[in-house]
Parts: sequence; structure tokens; C-alpha cells
Amino acid sequence: MKKRTLASLEGQPLEGQRALVRVDFNVPVRDGMVADATRIRAALPTIQWLSGKGCRVVLLSHLGRPKGAPDPRYSLRPVASELERQLGTPVLFLDDPVGEEAVQRSRRMKRGEVALGENTRFYPGEESNDAELARRFAALGDFYVNDAFGSAHRAHASTEAVARILKPAVAGFLMAKELDYLGMALSEPKRPFVAVLGGAKVSDKIGVINALLPRVDQLLIGGAMACTFFAAMGHDMGASLVERDKLELARELLSRAGEKLILPKGLVVAERLSAGASRRSVAPDAVPSGWAAYDIDSETCRDFVARIRRARTVLWNGPMGVFETPPFDEGTMAIARGLADATRKGAVTIVGGGDSAAAVARAGVEDRITHVSTGGGATLEFLEGKVLPGVAALDDA
Ligand code: 3PG
Repeated sequence: MKKRTLASLEGQPLEGQRALVRVDFNVPVRDGMVADATRIRAALPTIQWLSGKGCRVVLLSHLGRPKGAPDPRYSLRPVASELERQLGTPVLFLDDPVGEEAVQRSRRMKRGEVALGENTRFYPGEESNDAELARRFAALGDFYVNDAFGSAHRAHASTEAVARILKPAVAGFLMAKELDYLGMALSEPKRPFVAVLGGAKVSDKIGVINALLPRVDQLLIGGAMACTFFAAMGHDMGASLVERDKLELARELLSRAGEKLILPKGLVVAERLSAGASRRSVAPDAVPSGWAAYDIDSETCRDFVARIRRARTVLWNGPMGVFETPPFDEGTMAIARGLADATRKGAVTIVGGGDSAAAVARAGVEDRITHVSTGGGATLEFLEGKVLPGVAALDDA
């Protein structure tokens, strides 16, 4: 079901209205500073559009996983400072966004002014999707905008219950863009459609594999997850990460997928996970005893990249190896560059999940990918075909 978006409010008398906007500012904070502002930048189009229309813009977000009570480690204050830098204007901080004082301040804000409320997870009712807490959040706005795609898989008071109370309830520009690109990959991909999945565990990706298999032309599998498939084929994977309890599942997937499922031709193995460890490339059936696979090898990189370059839609989720520990990042970096090449040749390229998004940034090709999703769990659940409660609660288009 298509959802009503912010664009539908164009031409409406918005000036002076209070826009309550749920954003996903769950960003890494180190030493009181935002270490990665990607999610903040991604929400700017919605914030700036509303502010430009003369709305009083009240933002809500969670940060981390505090236990339903104030915890200074998870305060959004550093995020407010970063948002001020990004916007180039002061941001009002609401210490207690559910108190009467916050409601009064929201009414006294200047037109176009932006406020950020303290962490929604400081309130016990947030994660239980409490209607009373949602009513308090709703008192901060005259209409509701959900731009927090990354939190849309959570049925929480600030993402779900509030959208059923405060109307209209529309999708912000980031939310709409995420739903459009990810939805397009699932429902009307240009072909060939190649999906690249990596990461440590088959069990984390089984839902996505099941949902993608009937839709893709090829499914390339890398990361430690590939080792479980090789073990299922009877190979001795040495000390590699293998999910023993998923071997039967891997065998079933292999037979169901047939030629669509493409595994690495070779693996980079090492005695231990460290930059200085001795390492070599081996065939998947020749992993030395006691050694473990930490990356795909260069022949696999060439094979995967060639397939990616021939595709017209590419969806990538999950690293090809332990990319946090160079030189085991080479496979992941090659895939990132391969997607950038495919984009240049006219393909729609979509990257989902925190690790792959970080890899794309590290490879310096962020701007050469059609869409880098800001979601982690939300992106996976969307690709699995699940209903996201934060989306479902918004008004239908
Ligand atoms: C995320 O970072 O994936 C979202 O902000 C959701 O966070 P959560 O997993 O703590 O609900």
C-alpha cells in the first residue's frame, strides 16, 4: 500500500504549523561528538523543507538502548550540536519532550525554528508502544511526519502509536526515498537483477535469501556465511566460522536455488585474524586445518564484479570478509567499487545495512551508488517482505 508523503502537503497552509517529525538520529557518539553524521544529513531535506515553509519543526529520535529511564550516556545533546552545525542555525533542545513546558515551548517557537527532543527511550512507554506516551508526543505537533526509516521496524510510541493519533501522518522525504528504491528492487527490478549478500551468518540472512531468490537472476554469496554453504557441500572449512546447526538449511537452499546461487571460487585464509598473519588464497575445498577464511579471493572478486557490471539492478547487503581488519577488506572494497562501476553504466545500485554502507563510504564511492539505505534491521525486514509498523501506521496515499 502506497503511503501519503510530505510532498502531498505542498500548497497547504503550513506556515506556523508545528510539524512533529520522527527522525532516526541513532548515530555513533564518541567523547561527546557525533562520529558519523550520515543519518543526520539524510534527514536534512525534510527538516529544511518544513522549516522553509515556516513550520515549527519538532524532532524526536531515540539513541542507543537505554532502559526506559534517563541515562546521560544516551543523551541527544551532542546530536543537537551536530544538527546545528549541519543546518547552520540554532536548534532548541527539549530536555523533557513529554512535559507541559515542552508543549508551551513548541507553541512559542519562531516560524522555521527547529527543536530536538531528548531521547524517546528515556520513557518506559516508548518501546511498549504506550498510547498515553504517544498522546504526549502528539501534543508537540499539529501533524506528524515519519522520516525514521531506520526505526520503522519498531512498533514504538514515537513511530507507531503517535501516527495513529496525530493526523495527517505522512512519510518524510527520506522515508519515501527508502521505500521507493527498496520497493522497486523487490517489485519491478530492471534485469538482470543481481543481489550480493555477505556477513557472518546464514541465520541472519535466511529471510532475505528466501524473499530474494524468486526475484533475482543471480544471488552472489560472500562473507563467512559462504563457509556454511561450503561445509554443507561436504568441505572441511578448517577453523572458519560455520553454523553447524544450519547445514541442512544451507543444503536445502543450494538445491532450491540451483544455478542462481553463486558461491566464491576461492577464499583468502589465514592462521589468525590479524594484519600480519600469514595468509593465502585457496579453493573452498582446500582450507588448511586450523586456518580460517576471512575474505573472498581475487579471482572471486573478478567474477563477482563482472556479474555486477552486467546487471541493471544490484542490491548489496553484508561485507565479503572481515573488512574491519585490512587486508581482509579487499573483497568488500572490490564489491563497493564494482557497484560504483555498475551505476556509471546505468544500473540502479542499492546498498543496505550498516556494514556495507560503511564500506561504500570507506571506498569513497558513496556518491556513485544510486541509493545507500540508512536502515540496518529495517532494511533487512523490508527486504524480507515484512510489514514495517512505522510505515503501516502512516496515512494511505
Ligand atoms: C538502527 O540503528 O538500526 C535503528 O536506529 C534501530 O535501533 P534499535 O535496533 O536499537 O531499535
